[in-house]
Amino acid sequence: MLRDPAAGDPAGHPAEGGEEAAPVVKTESVVAAESEESALAAPAAPAPSPEPHDAASPVLVARSRAAPSARDPVIAGLDWAGLAEAVSGCEACGLCEGRRNTVFGTGPRPAPWMLVGEAPGHHEDLSGEPFVGDAGRLLDQMLLAIGVDRPSEAFIANVMKCRPPANRDPVPDEVARCEPYLLRQVELLRPRLIVVLGRFAAQSLLRTDATVGSLRGRVHAYRAAGRDVPMVVTYHPAYLLRNLPDKAKAWADLRLARRTFDTVE
Ligand code: URA
Repeated sequence: MLRDPAAGDPAGHPAEGGEEAAPVVKTESVVAAESEESALAAPAAPAPSPEPHDAASPVLVARSRAAPSARDPVIAGLDWAGLAEAVSGCEACGLCEGRRNTVFGTGPRPAPWMLVGEAPGHHEDLSGEPFVGDAGRLLDQMLLAIGVDRPSEAFIANVMKCRPPANRDPVPDEVARCEPYLLRQVELLRPRLIVVLGRFAAQSLLRTDATVGSLRGRVHAYRAAGRDVPMVVTYHPAYLLRNLPDKAKAWADLRLARRTFDTVE
C-alpha cells in the first residue's frame, strides 16, 4: 500500500521512507525550485519567526491533476454546511464503524492556504480536529516560520476524514470514497496554494507511487473548480519529528510554498 506501517511510529504516523525505487510522477512541465544544495544549507529546523520571502521569481506548474474519479456528483453539489453534514454522517466505507468523530478540518473559509495530511490519528479521532498533538505543534511552527498564521490563514484537512483502525493505511476503496469530500473542500475554499503533507497524501492526490523525495522541490497542480491550484509536497510533520535531518528539506519546501503563494494570483 502507500506507506509501510512497519516503518511508522508507534502511533501509526507516517514513515516516508522507501525513497529508492519509486517511479517519478509524470508532469508536462515542472519548475525546479530548491536545489538539494540549498536545502542542505538551510537551518536544521524551521525558524521560529517569519522569514523574509525570497524575491526570486518562481514558478508554475506541473500538470499532475486530480483524476475525475475524485468527483462524486452529489458531493460536488454540496455547499459548505451540507458538506460538513455529509462528512459527519458518512457511512460510505467501513471506517465509520470504528470512529469516534469524523475530522472535517479546521480553518478559515475561504482559506488562502490549505494543508492536506493523511488521516486522523488517535487524538484527532477523539477531538474531531486535525493535527492536534506533537505533529500539530510542529505544523504550527512550520507555518509560522513562513509567516502563516494557522487559525486565520490556513485550512487543515486530511485525505481521510475517519481514523483507520490502529492507524493502518487506508485501502484504495476507502480513499476513493473519501476523496470527493476533499475535492469539494478545495473547490469551496479556493485556496491559493495547497501544501501536501507526507507520502500518503501526496500519492493519493497525485495518483502516483512516487516518494515524497521525488515529488518535492517543484510545484504540482490540483484541478478544482476549473482551475489549477498550485500544490507543494513536503514531509509529514510526524515523520519530521523522527527524522530531524529531513527538516532542512521541509524548510526548503516551505520556502518554495511561500514563494509560490506570493507569486500566484
Ligand atoms: N496525521 C495526519 O496526517 N493527520 C492528522 O490530522 C493527524 C496526524
